[in-house]
Amino acid sequence: MIMKSTNGSKSGRPRGWLTAGAVLVFGGLLPACREPAPTHDTAASAAPSSAAPSSSARPGTAFDALDGMDVRKPVPLLPMMANHQKQNMRDHLVAVQEIIVAAASNDFAGVERAASRIGSSEQMGRMCSHMGAAAPGFTDQALAFHRTADTVAEAARKGDKDAVMSALGRTLATCTGCHAAWKQQVVDESTWQRLTSSAPPTGHR
Ligand code: HEC
Repeated sequence: MIMKSTNGSKSGRPRGWLTAGAVLVFGGLLPACREPAPTHDTAASAAPSSAAPSSSARPGTAFDALDGMDVRKPVPLLPMMANHQKQNMRDHLVAVQEIIVAAASNDFAGVERAASRIGSSEQMGRMCSHMGAAAPGFTDQALAFHRTADTVAEAARKGDKDAVMSALGRTLATCTGCHAAWKQQVVDESTWQRLTSSAPPTGHR
């Protein structure tokens, strides 16, 4: 999903932190730690009809009011990961923009180039696993997104514009499906370590 190395990217986002962050995070994991998830995970229990953050761990702030209204499942992330995820998300949208602009002028090489930025790769798979390490099910959805994006590039290689557009439609459905299900939840280092050492490693729900 997120961390594919994108040589053609115009966003100029930082890349170096990721390796360092992964080393820090994985290096700091304590496999023996098996505490339960924190109570801030209110997504499943929050009443959709109520806007009040009654079950929040930190009631009374504007942020908690928003969090209480947003009943999507949380994806716990360290601040740097959350920031990087959002940078990548914005770049995903730029890639979609570039696909559409290129397709409109039958520039299939341009479609393929833009689509490959959101397609599958080994590095992307590793990064998706990292992002979903504390949110079982998230990584599966992320990988399905990238595999669907691969079909845009495949259609472009065949020079088939109709197939490009329908593959892009299916890809966007994976974007919106994930957005409907998940929200970011920024956590500190100790919470991250606790969550990642208690979550199932493969990310199945
Ligand atoms: C596997 C899940 C997943 C997929 C697939 C996904 N996103 Fe996201 N996206 C997220 C999450 C989680 C957020 C943060 C949402 C929140 O906390 O409100 C987000 C946020 C965003 C944002 C807001 C960024 C910001 O600066 O706040 C944009 C734009 C976005 N995604 C675009 C896309 C596009 C375009 C696609 C598909 C081409 C896509 N995303 C696919 C999970 C996903």
